[in-house]
Amino acid sequence: MALIPLMPTTQLKNGLQICKVINGMWQVSGAHGSINAERAVASMNSYAEMGFTTFDMADIYGPAEDIFGSFMKLRDETLNEIQGLTKLVPRPGDMSRTRIEAFLDKSMRRMQVSKIDCLQFHWWDYNDKRYLDALRHLSDLQKEGKIGELSLTNFDTEHLREVVESGVSISSNQIQYSVIDQRPSVLMKKYCEALDIKLLAYGTLCGGLISEKYLKKPEPKPHELNTASLGKYKHMIDLWGGWDLFQEMLDVLNSIAQEHSVSIANIATRYILDEKVVGGVIVGCRFGADESDHSKDNFRSVSASWQLTSGNLSAIKAVCSRGKELMQVIGDCGAEYR
Ligand SMILES: NC(=O)c1ccc[n+]([C@@H]2O[C@H](COP(=O)([O-])OP(=O)(O)OC[C@H]3O[C@@H](n4cnc5c(N)ncnc54)[C@H](OP(=O)(O)O)[C@@H]3O)[C@@H](O)[C@H]2O)c1
Repeated sequence: MALIPLMPTTQLKNGLQICKVINGMWQVSGAHGSINAERAVASMNSYAEMGFTTFDMADIYGPAEDIFGSFMKLRDETLNEIQGLTKLVPRPGDMSRTRIEAFLDKSMRRMQVSKIDCLQFHWWDYNDKRYLDALRHLSDLQKEGKIGELSLTNFDTEHLREVVESGVSISSNQIQYSVIDQRPSVLMKKYCEALDIKLLAYGTLCGGLISEKYLKKPEPKPHELNTASLGKYKHMIDLWGGWDLFQEMLDVLNSIAQEHSVSIANIATRYILDEKVVGGVIVGCRFGADESDHSKDNFRSVSASWQLTSGNLSAIKAVCSRGKELMQVIGDCGAEYR
């Protein structure tokens, strides 16, 4: 008998139910330390058995799609259903139907699935309008049954609107969203709420910097930031307000965490998940590295036994408001990639 999934879910436009906390697989790409594929698959099984059944990957995350494929092949199918979200991140060039279909077929082969539950499309250069061709073909392939949900990643509000107005139905946009990076709340949130487009948030834990591990700690030196993720988000913190202000944010998150007997990561995740437009928060998992298994703790992020109070929200917002508006510094969601 199938286990009853314990994790709260969100339903996307075309019916896919995804977990509120999604397992992020950039951490098995190779940019976060070496990965033992066999141990990673065993660890994915344990996560899935706990109720973490949604996995986020990309065609460009090294072996991530293959590891997911091995997991799909070896897992006990009587247990929970699995949702595999991947990304298509093509280099600019010909976006013919043949080429797009070949990309999809390759991902499906690697993931060992006959349909992609959710395909998230990324584009590097808005001056090259061929993203509209790619999305038209993807929309046709969705109608033909190869894709469940057609989504975007790192699109800004202006170009998301352009895509929608071209007649393509979009289920979600995967973007950076955290107590540090509040850009989605400026324009994106309102637009997506109106059209029932969900935001899937990443960077919510700033690669692990938003945790007890960095509380009351001196500013890390570049060589101590030993994963791609830590380096990326430390740069965000520098642009936002620097290490001292970040420590003030950690202090506030920590006192709220203690009030609710949870962790800093739980508070940072719940703060973003409480936004109605947010369908899920993607938390990176270094599958197979036992010291990095935070599954039990991350389950508390969605526990119904505690809630953020209005006082908690005001305390977090007060520190947010002292940082620089990243919308002004970098631009709207995804601008850091262009
Ligand atoms: N679309 C895009 O462009 C894009 C960009 C970035 C990420 N993503 C997606 O988002 C996922 C998340 O990646 P991210 O870079 O944003 O990382 P993140 O989720 O902000 O941070 C993940 C790291 O946080 C630490 N962590 C997790 N839970 C914790 C807890 N409860 N307590 C303390 N520390 C905890 C772990 O560090 P340790 O392993 O060191 O313990 C983990 O590796 C990626 O895997 C990917 O799927 C997408």
